[in-house]
Amino acid sequence: MNEFYQGKVALVTGSAMGIGLACAEAFAQAGAVTVLADIRKPQEQAERLVAAGYQAAAYECDVSDVSAVKAMIEWIAATYGRLDAALNNAGIQTPQRPMAEITDEEFDRTVAVDLKGVWNCMRYEIIQMLKQGGGAIVNTSSQGGVTGFPGQAAYIACKHAVIGLTRTAAIDYAAKNIRINAVCPGVILTPMAQELLRRNPALEQELIRDIPAGRMGKPEEIANAVLWLCGPQASFVDGHALLVDGAFSIH
Ligand code: NAI
Repeated sequence: MNEFYQGKVALVTGSAMGIGLACAEAFAQAGAVTVLADIRKPQEQAERLVAAGYQAAAYECDVSDVSAVKAMIEWIAATYGRLDAALNNAGIQTPQRPMAEITDEEFDRTVAVDLKGVWNCMRYEIIQMLKQGGGAIVNTSSQGGVTGFPGQAAYIACKHAVIGLTRTAAIDYAAKNIRINAVCPGVILTPMAQELLRRNPALEQELIRDIPAGRMGKPEEIANAVLWLCGPQASFVDGHALLVDGAFSIH
């Protein structure tokens, strides 16, 4: 439990598994009423938290669908009265291919989820946070938000854009007591990363060789950063893109 998060309301998108699930668990364990949102309703995940004595609820939402996102934020406001912390984390990978071989459909879907999804969520989160006088938002970018990565042009473009969106929105709402930051995970062992490694097993040793820390990260290590960014210790941290990547992107 964490005194600050007691009675606060938190939302995590893309929280059925991986980084989002670890972050939702961390918010709930810190004492926040936590809404787990995902394109597939994370009912079991929320029930597990409730059974362990925490406050959590599951919500089905495709973040690329703006009316579904609007309805979700309105449901949170109607049910819990407020939204204090939001992690816009839902994301998809594009099949790994050189840029000119990525189809328009693949590009459009990646942008719809990884960029427009963040845009949709931020817009309605901000509208709610303005009504209640403040809040904190974190958007999940990537180490690929500050570096290139072979075969991932659409994904990497979105992750760069998420940082630009974060910085600009942070400036727009800094005086309104809404802080907006990004977290940039390195290679974190989640189902998304496991799928990438399954498709390209040689990548594992290659990736680890390039991580100065000599290992992949754990979802909990991203959760620690996210709770810090949303909490009082980060009260003057705004518009920042926080790398949590074992020094990958700076070496
Ligand atoms: P994951 O694939 O394990 O989980 C992603 C979650 O997002 C899933 O539960 C999925 O159902 C959900 N989702 C997908 N499309 C959605 C949509 N349209 N609406 C709502 N939910 C949707 O992924 P992981 O690894 O946990 O990644 C989470 C975030 O972290 C993503 O934004 C990813 O790009 C980012 N990231 C992950 C890294 C890694 O190494 N795992 C590295 C850098 C960034």
